[in-house]
Amino acid sequence: VTAAAAAEAMRWENGVLVLLDQTKLPTQIEYIRCDSFRRVAEAIKRLEVRGAPAIGIAAAYAMALAAQEAALFAKTKNTKDNDAFWDLLYSAARELKSTRPTAVNLSWAVTKMLTAAETAKAAATPDGLAALLKKIADDLAATDREVNKKIAANGAAIFRNRKMSFLTHCNTGALATAAVGTALGVIVAVGEQGNVVNVFVDETRPLLQGARLTAWELSQLGIPVTLITDNTAGWVMKQGKVDAVIVGADRIAQNGDTANKIGTYSLAVLAMEHKIPFYVAAPVSTFDFSLPSGGSIPIEERAPEEVTVLNGKRIAPCDVRVYNPAFDITPHDLITGIITEEGVLSPPFSAAIAQLKRKSEA
Ligand code: MRU
Repeated sequence: VTAAAAAEAMRWENGVLVLLDQTKLPTQIEYIRCDSFRRVAEAIKRLEVRGAPAIGIAAAYAMALAAQEAALFAKTKNTKDNDAFWDLLYSAARELKSTRPTAVNLSWAVTKMLTAAETAKAAATPDGLAALLKKIADDLAATDREVNKKIAANGAAIFRNRKMSFLTHCNTGALATAAVGTALGVIVAVGEQGNVVNVFVDETRPLLQGARLTAWELSQLGIPVTLITDNTAGWVMKQGKVDAVIVGADRIAQNGDTANKIGTYSLAVLAMEHKIPFYVAAPVSTFDFSLPSGGSIPIEERAPEEVTVLNGKRIAPCDVRVYNPAFDITPHDLITGIITEEGVLSPPFSAAIAQLKRKSEA
């Protein structure tokens, strides 16, 4: 098993961000060439690129694309104070932040890019700022690769020398990050030690990230995978077939409450009932140190058609009311540990997360 075999969600090629179209996987491998921040924003909304760290990095490259465009535009305007450049950059930041509300990595990355540009404002030309933003996006991607490795190593250490059967939800692998992934990265690392007996992958309705993406990634990596419908999870736990559940996160509050793909909360309740450890794996950039608890995490609601239409075919009455939240919040007391690049956090999470915050600000 090698991480190198993992799929690559995005790459920068001659001034363009190339995205692997995740809505077409696993049956078609198609790439989208994004030459403007608007196209990247569209791709994030449509889930052509998805997963908290990946949308953060894509948004960072989108800010670099916006800066390229703004630098060109500013030249045609010929104003001394570069207002045209800044207007475009700020409007790109607003548009990108509004694409998806739940994963904090997105607004975190956009804010990081804006702050870097503002800090360099006095000393740099618009072209210089555009080059700087491209470099910072590269740095973010490189950092995510390092962070993935550390999360994988920290997580694998928990399960050392044990034959493991995992259950996971949604997709937290290479497609969702810049490298091997978060929760899936841990599973892959345990697999590299020859200790993964099986991974139950929830299909993850309504958009099937588990069936289409995780099952595909694990099969490519040669890790034993069993696809189940979401409502089979409790039954495989009851039968003693699951040693641990590992999921990713889109936003983690100060007390450890965790927003992740809809269905995660039900899994945590089931794991508690069956006395199965329930781990969250996420980078420090997924923590929202400003929120005391999960109650204030914004939850994205998506179109009813994601539920009423399957593969282009309507499966429910036309006028039925639909509730389609993309995420739910798992209360911290259902979580055994949070695996980060800085180590594995254990309850009480408030103290561990406060320490993480101090470290990240140092
Ligand atoms: O709607 P998605 O596919 O972007 O949701 C993704 C998830 O919920 C993942 O578990 C989370 O972003 C972590 S990805 C490392």
